[in-house]
Amino acid sequence: MKSIQTELADRIVKALQSIGLDGDPLVFPSQDSKFGDYQSNCAMGLGKKAARKPRELAEEIVSRLQIDDISEPPQIAGPGFINFRIKPAFLSAILADIPPGSDPERARLGIEAAASPEVVVVDLSSPNLAKEMHVGHLRSTVIGDCVARCLEFMGHTVHRDNHVGDWGTQFGMLVAHLRHVRPDVADNPSQLVIHDLETFYIEAKSRFDEDEEFKKESRETVVALQQADPQTRLIWKAFCDESLRHCHAIYDRLKVDLVDRGESFYADLMHEVVRRLEILRGEDDSPVRISDGALCVFLDGFTTRDGDPLPVIVRKADGGFNYASSDLATILHRVEQLGATRIIYVVGLPQKQHFEMVFAAARKVGWVSEDVSMVHLGFGSMLSATGKPFKTREGGTVKLKDLLDEAVAKARKVVESQLDDDKGGDRAFTKEEMDHIAETVGLAAVKYFDLSHSLAGDYKFDLSTMLSLEGNTAPYMLYAYARIRSIARKADVDFAGLPTDVGISLDHPAEVALALKLLQFGDTLGTVVRDYRLNLLTEYLFELAKTFSRFYDKKIGVRIVDASPESVRNSRLRLCDLTARTLKLGLHLLGIETLDRM
Ligand code: ARG
Repeated sequence: MKSIQTELADRIVKALQSIGLDGDPLVFPSQDSKFGDYQSNCAMGLGKKAARKPRELAEEIVSRLQIDDISEPPQIAGPGFINFRIKPAFLSAILADIPPGSDPERARLGIEAAASPEVVVVDLSSPNLAKEMHVGHLRSTVIGDCVARCLEFMGHTVHRDNHVGDWGTQFGMLVAHLRHVRPDVADNPSQLVIHDLETFYIEAKSRFDEDEEFKKESRETVVALQQADPQTRLIWKAFCDESLRHCHAIYDRLKVDLVDRGESFYADLMHEVVRRLEILRGEDDSPVRISDGALCVFLDGFTTRDGDPLPVIVRKADGGFNYASSDLATILHRVEQLGATRIIYVVGLPQKQHFEMVFAAARKVGWVSEDVSMVHLGFGSMLSATGKPFKTREGGTVKLKDLLDEAVAKARKVVESQLDDDKGGDRAFTKEEMDHIAETVGLAAVKYFDLSHSLAGDYKFDLSTMLSLEGNTAPYMLYAYARIRSIARKADVDFAGLPTDVGISLDHPAEVALALKLLQFGDTLGTVVRDYRLNLLTEYLFELAKTFSRFYDKKIGVRIVDASPESVRNSRLRLCDLTARTLKLGLHLLGIETLDRM
């Protein structure tokens, strides 16, 4: 099913063609519903191009538009805006088409999958395994998961790659330390338990700083690791596996699915990177050159502060590899082995230049063609509630686990206070139910708050704001959903089993407004996956929830459970069902589970 926006756009394109013009119809939902439901702004730009008065052009477009099955006669406003008011009959016809009941297509809500599905890699979370996951890893995990969910929903094949840092000089130090403090590790690598990776790292580091002998041993261990010495690899792997177990406890809790494919996975491919670059180096005017002993790719437009060319170093003068080498190898794998046509890196903004340079290098040497896009989805920092960088009282890094625990504990208080306010019958919960509710609401609050901010900005982690019951927050959304589910209980119906032969009647303005909002979900998702503007999704869901509360409002809305005749009651209950399903799907795409009762 085409969205209303696409349908309008297609009709305008036809009208334009009939006047011999071609251009973007520029159709968007109207900002102010006073003027209409949708607006096209194309007459301004096209008028200029065709040297015609925009308003006259708008009139001609309108006179040629064949649209009366969808819209009331379009109105022209201001310099040439064309406003459309969608006919309720059209809205109800599309809504009635959305598969009801147990249809497997039910969950798609009539939203079409992408016409040409792509293979997409989402590089997300990607902590450094040397340490415990800390608050800084929340955003990459949550944003990456949401992007992956939306792309999957649109029918793309998504590889969720956890590009963990497991390959570098630090691991020499950690492996050497491990050998000292757990001499038995090689006998029983899978039994290794390190309760606190942070403390372990600090111990190893201070030994490294204080003990020259240990420093030397650590360096030798790095070499042994890179040369694939079996015993060193075994201990290294035991350490990485244990560190990954810590990460996965968090991923399981956040219900984030991903595949661990760290830097070490590309270790052999880094040699292939060098081999291919060495071949290119022989060519005339090659961007690949040796500079100060290092193998480099020189790029246009990147210079140091002093104006000297700034190349990507692929192999250091000492023969070692670096972060850029591993990212180039990773690109080769993703493009050639996985066949990716989109690679999305969900990594903090401080790495902006790294990615710009790596992308430019991969294109320059011809490994990535124009039809493959590489996107650095950079994000800002999460700051403490006071706006300072996140630190424990002692000045250490805050573990992600502790932050989530705190959110869940506060969520429990909020939900409990609601229960005290409401002595209503269907809200008595067992201890297990309460645990589940608190965990769901707490994690939802953290995710929703993060995703409701624009990616590039910083935000303050403020639990009282994110757990507020008013405003654009997870608790508001979850209560909105649970309220609709409670309508089903009050009406004593199963939404999925509502009869569909009666049709959806849209007579009251509150019904029309809700119908229109419901039908804008697909377009919102389209924009989200095109521009990676995840906060458009939270905004949409918030608008939908508010539109629903007006629909349900005793004064300005309509009666539902006790509406009559039966056909009207049924129609309104179907609107409730569609709203609940849209909220549920939207929240699911944000990585948030709903609760039927809370
Ligand atoms: N492990 C890196 C870090 O902690 C992030 C990796 C991001 N992904 C990548 N392909 N470089 O900074």
